Amino acid sequence: MLKYKTMQTILVTGSAGFIGWATCDLLLKKDFIVIGIDNINDYYDPKIKELRLNSLKKYENFIFYKGDIEDLDTLRKIFKSHKIEGIINLAARAGVRASVENPWGYLDTNVKGTINLLECVKDFNVKVFVLASTSSVYGDTDKIPFKVSDFTDKPLAPYPASKKSAELFCYSYHYLYGINTIIPRYFTVYGPFGRPDMSIFRFIKKIDSGEPITVYGDGRQKRDFTFIEDIAEATVSCLNLEGFKILNLGNDNPVELIYVINLIEKLLGKEAEIQWQPRHPADIFATWADITEAKQYIGWIPKVSIEEGISKTVQWYKEYRDLLKDIKI
Ligand SMILES: NC(=O)c1ccc[n+]([C@@H]2O[C@H](COP(=O)([O-])OP(=O)(O)OC[C@H]3O[C@@H](n4cnc5c(N)ncnc54)[C@H](O)[C@@H]3O)[C@@H](O)[C@H]2O)c1
Repeated sequence: MLKYKTMQTILVTGSAGFIGWATCDLLLKKDFIVIGIDNINDYYDPKIKELRLNSLKKYENFIFYKGDIEDLDTLRKIFKSHKIEGIINLAARAGVRASVENPWGYLDTNVKGTINLLECVKDFNVKVFVLASTSSVYGDTDKIPFKVSDFTDKPLAPYPASKKSAELFCYSYHYLYGINTIIPRYFTVYGPFGRPDMSIFRFIKKIDSGEPITVYGDGRQKRDFTFIEDIAEATVSCLNLEGFKILNLGNDNPVELIYVINLIEKLLGKEAEIQWQPRHPADIFATWADITEAKQYIGWIPKVSIEEGISKTVQWYKEYRDLLKDIKI
């Protein structure tokens, strides 16, 4: 029997976010009581966060707090009101380029927010803490695929620097208090209800409405695009684990950005008008996950190919086109 089935109540931070929403949805389907918290910030158009939240509110076992993980008093009140047994910390500032403009926000949410949650784990006897991290911690390296044991001490921007810091705080708390801490490092996640600040959502919306798209570099940069359902499945499975573990969650099949653009063009039946821009120095050239630990610890292998995943995403976009037309990108 899976251990998480003995747990009832899970706190998901960033529950109105892309991965938070999908993770909550899966937990709710598995009959957990899910406490969601999100400050619904406006880093990207919050209308899509409302759409995601509305789809979660149909579940009776979902309780939502609009609140900030930077506020320890708010968190303590939530922990006093519910017997929280596991935490999945997905709340974050998550833009590489935006972090170059405002590094302080990244420190406050990604580092201080994580410490606040670790304090709650310690004080309220939470069984397991899952921290979302990122493939960006590997920096600019020619050594692919990225292994969990690879060097991660030269992040190219404040965003991965903040995530690496949060990982290190997690280790300290694990060492000092024996907290079970699991750290999935995600590789470019995409899918229905995806982020309007990320390339796939932007490409679909712009190509569909005949607007030009911007591509940085020559389009040959490779990303290990990973479908949201695979990510949610693996993230929930992390609740089963003990000790301190880091695992890569990627598709193990990197593809060029231009290949994805071509797929979208075919599925929409429209040609993209591309405006080329120079490569941003904080952009990594290629990402590719070595998923050995994910296979070993949670028996996870991604199921959805890029062709199937993009097709599902375009399908979703067509269904929601009317609701999505006002979303700012
Ligand atoms: N999407 C990806 O490809 C990807 C890749 C690597 C890592 N990650 C990580 O996965 C996690 C989820 O990412 P996502 O793509 O769902 O991003 P997202 O921006 O859609 O979700 C994050 C959510 O956290 C909320 N939030 C931000 N600051 C908060 C705060 N101080 N208090 C409470 N809520 C706050 C936001 O309002 C947002 O709804 C993040 O930690 C991100 O760094 C994502």
